Amino acid sequence: MAKDALTVTDERSGARYELAIERGAIRATDLKRIKPRDDEDGLLSYDPALANTAICKSAIGFVDGDRGILRYRGYPIEELAEKSSYLETAYLIVKGELPDEHHFAMWRHNITTHSMVHENIKKFMDGFRYDAHPMGMLVGTVGALSTFYPDAKHVLDLESRRLQTRRLIGKMPTLAAFAYRRSRGLPYVYPDNDLSYTGNFLSMLFNMTELRYKPDPVLERTVDVLFILHAEHEQNCSTNAVRCVASARTDPYSAVAAGIAALYGPLHGGANEEVIRMLEEIGTVDRIPEYLKGCKTGERRLMGFGHRLYRNYDPRARLIKKLAYEVFEVTGKNPLIDIAIELERQALDDEYFVARKLFPNLDYYSGLIYQALGLPMTMFPVLFAIARTAGWMAHWAELIRDPEQKIIRPRQIYVGEGPRAYTPIEGRPEPIMREDAVSRFI
Ligand code: ACO
Repeated sequence: MAKDALTVTDERSGARYELAIERGAIRATDLKRIKPRDDEDGLLSYDPALANTAICKSAIGFVDGDRGILRYRGYPIEELAEKSSYLETAYLIVKGELPDEHHFAMWRHNITTHSMVHENIKKFMDGFRYDAHPMGMLVGTVGALSTFYPDAKHVLDLESRRLQTRRLIGKMPTLAAFAYRRSRGLPYVYPDNDLSYTGNFLSMLFNMTELRYKPDPVLERTVDVLFILHAEHEQNCSTNAVRCVASARTDPYSAVAAGIAALYGPLHGGANEEVIRMLEEIGTVDRIPEYLKGCKTGERRLMGFGHRLYRNYDPRARLIKKLAYEVFEVTGKNPLIDIAIELERQALDDEYFVARKLFPNLDYYSGLIYQALGLPMTMFPVLFAIARTAGWMAHWAELIRDPEQKIIRPRQIYVGEGPRAYTPIEGRPEPIMREDAVSRFI
């Protein structure tokens, strides 16, 4: 009868081992049993970039990259984007179920009552240089929140975790909008809690002299849907950064600051900014073939294309592409869309991209929408960070409650020098820097 086990033979010793298979995985620590002699180290698994290693069991997000499926807590992303709101989706992600009317009203109240930030935050916002990138400001200010809420270090306390989750989801749009206003030299706008979560964010970004800002309903809904689409994506780079820092039982503000720092990178959430720079650099459709040539020779990457998991069209990119046209009805067409569409068409028709199963990801079209809304490119990853806060907080809570989790501490394969004696500086030869040191050994 079939057994959920893997039998391996160690050819060095001839010994056979049986490793249990659970949910399609073996436990990497079981490999430790495999050793040629008792006094030697057991086998390690080598997995740079954790490309094929599950670091936890999670019930939050589900991705089937081959089939282009994404679900939050079991609900298809398409259905949430059509029917839900960001705040409701955030509840689902954090708490595991959709709220009824009563629980949603409480949740909304609990989030909006935490949208204000301490007045001192304005002071250190003011301390940033006039041209500071708002993601850098966000990393700094979110990290600094831990100094305002020392109670946040009680990470094992459920009530404390609930409070920090409300605070972070509530304050993130305020910090993001303050960073934007600072870079524009505009006065900060305080939260208006009678508006929706997204309407309030737009008000804090764009209100000039109106007593009450009235967001355009199409644009308000668009940003809300974009927030839903960016809210959670299982073990991506930034979520892994949050989990890694949080595994040391660090407070969640510091852990989320690490997540924002990871998201900032151009290979992750910073890609939406890079896509616009790329489209502007291409400039006209006739220059696309030349540009694609550079992507194929490794000179550059086609930004907004490719994904570690999706070997099919990213379902979020499909929804965002559709959303872009709805926004352009209100804002007027972003002329870069024509280049984006033709670039996508040519790439999807090209053997290089077909063979590697490279498709547009969620960053490919989102920047075009943000740009049409009048936001500068540097703000694009900031919007991503606001939305992803729900996912980060859910993963933080899941990690803390998981009895199997410990401080994250991977192993390495040491490939450096063997033991050598220290020589005083006067007698040392000129150092030879070997650039190929790693590849020399492996
Ligand atoms: N343009 C050109 N070639 C690419 C691209 C791209 N965008 N992405 C992957 N490739 C190629 C690689 O050169 C490699 O080719 P090879 O096998 O001949 O060496 C192959 O496809 C596999 O690529 P990897 O780098 O191994 O894929 P990985 O899973 O590590 O990277 C990543 C995923 C980082 C997203 C990558 O596709 C990329 O750099 N894309 C552009 C940046 C981007 O859009 N990032 C946003 C991702 S979505 C998000 O984080 C929110």
